[in-house]
Amino acid sequence: MQRAAFILRMREGMNSLSRVLKAIEKYQGAVLHLETRPNKRDNGQLDALIKMQMSRLNLLQLIKNLRQSGTLEHVTLLGEDNISAKNPWFPRHASELDNCNHLMTKYEPDLDMNHPGFSDKEYRSRRKDIAEIAFKYKYGDAIPYIEYTETENKTWTAVYNTVKELVPKHACAEYRCVFKQLEEAGIFQALRVPQLEEMSSFMKKATGFTLRPAAGLLTARDFLASLAFRIFQSTQYVRHTKTPFHTPEPDCIHEILGHMPLLADPSFAQFSQEIGLASLGASDQEIEKLSTIYWFTVEFGLCKEAGETKAYGAGLLSAYGELLHALSEKPEHRPFDPASTALQAYQDQEYQPVYFVAESIEDMKDKFRRWVCQMSRPFEVRFNPHTGRVEVLDSVEKLDSLIHQLSTEILHLTNAINKMKACPV
Ligand SMILES: [Fe+2]
Repeated sequence: MQRAAFILRMREGMNSLSRVLKAIEKYQGAVLHLETRPNKRDNGQLDALIKMQMSRLNLLQLIKNLRQSGTLEHVTLLGEDNISAKNPWFPRHASELDNCNHLMTKYEPDLDMNHPGFSDKEYRSRRKDIAEIAFKYKYGDAIPYIEYTETENKTWTAVYNTVKELVPKHACAEYRCVFKQLEEAGIFQALRVPQLEEMSSFMKKATGFTLRPAAGLLTARDFLASLAFRIFQSTQYVRHTKTPFHTPEPDCIHEILGHMPLLADPSFAQFSQEIGLASLGASDQEIEKLSTIYWFTVEFGLCKEAGETKAYGAGLLSAYGELLHALSEKPEHRPFDPASTALQAYQDQEYQPVYFVAESIEDMKDKFRRWVCQMSRPFEVRFNPHTGRVEVLDSVEKLDSLIHQLSTEILHLTNAINKMKACPV
């Protein structure tokens, strides 16, 4: 058996793709990985990266077959070693996130029979209309305003009131603090779903994090990439009113109540960006590890606070059933350790049997930074807040200029300390 990877330029979009997949099946190949992106030069065309495995003889036949196909403009065969090696593609600027909105469709109401909206045509059509806004969204656009219906606002009210009741006792200090600020700013109110645009402006002032609308659950690679730019891709539709306390897929109530308060906390925002930066150009196996760490921290994390255990995970802070389960005696609590957390199997259908408890958000960030150094990526990246670009630190000139910038910053900080020492307040 031989492994191979192709980049295909498809003249007829998804129709070309289905023909290619049929050809792979005909030659008894197995697809190991598949991703598509709009072609950079021609928006009507689609590029696909397909990694596969098949016998050498069949592979040669397949290449011949694909190269003769009128539906493909280009067929480029890559050696397995050439993929994701020294110079893989990943977004270097937030505008390139327009190419990073690939969806996982497994929990969508059209396809998942267990989704509470599966048999509700009206709900599915509303969800589709709101998702359509995200598909059309381009970098730099204002986030479109959604006129939420009375039913949607009622669903928000039910969840909001429950979370508000649980926050003082069970949420971590960072969450409690921002929750209060959001109430004082009039953004968190019981009667209406906050708009993403107002949440985005609030977060931007606090930590520089902003939002862009997403049409549903994104692939881990695309979702994590956006965090590198301090951008959170958020859904805008509301869960089905039949089950206000449970949603099989992310919805805006989960994002707004679960994720956004902590993205407005400086330390947590930094941790989220660190995961995002680590994901750029990472191998598929490492993306899996990073998304597992994300799962057990950002989604389902617990932390210690003055001798008690509190929740900081968004999946807990937006779902009271699992929150109470997580803080009860039933599940196992283990100390957060990135190396073992990254390998822990997780549950996306039921409550977790295991949760990881961090000493603090700062401690979690330090441990993560140390762990991430051993990743196989042969280069280091840095986010430049002035240009909004991610830079690969691969030349002496770039490092020299960075050291110069940092020296200036340190000089300012030293001056500030000296001035405070000279005239203590
Ligand atoms: Fe989430």
